[in-house]
Amino acid sequence: TYVVIENCIACKYTDCVEVCPVDCFYEGENMLVIHPDECIDCGVCEPECPADAIRPDTEPDMEKWVEFNRKYSESWPVILAKKDPLPNYEERDGEDGKMEKYFS
Ligand code: SF4
Ligand code: F3S
Repeated sequence: TYVVIENCIACKYTDCVEVCPVDCFYEGENMLVIHPDECIDCGVCEPECPADAIRPDTEPDMEKWVEFNRKYSESWPVILAKKDPLPNYEERDGEDGKMEKYFS
């Protein structure tokens, strides 16, 4: 599976949604996640993310992100169309400590 990681938080560009052939992105207030059981590993979303926030779970230390994506994809609604990014997405792209600010 592919997963959405920290830098999506507070940016949420949503370019990824446009290219996913199986509509497996789910939308929270501040970020998106991928449902790991629905993702078919096609990889087309990874280069589309301007925030470089999508990764294959074959990279090191991705277990926590798979669990995070699984957890929230089961409670957030599916997102099917691109929308405007969050306010200040440019300034916040690359900011440190987003997880602590939003998910602790
Ligand atoms: Fe969708 Fe493919 Fe990205 Fe998985 S890897 S989320 S199936 S676009
Ligand atoms: Fe997030 Fe990147 Fe998609 S910032 S909403 S994973 S395009």
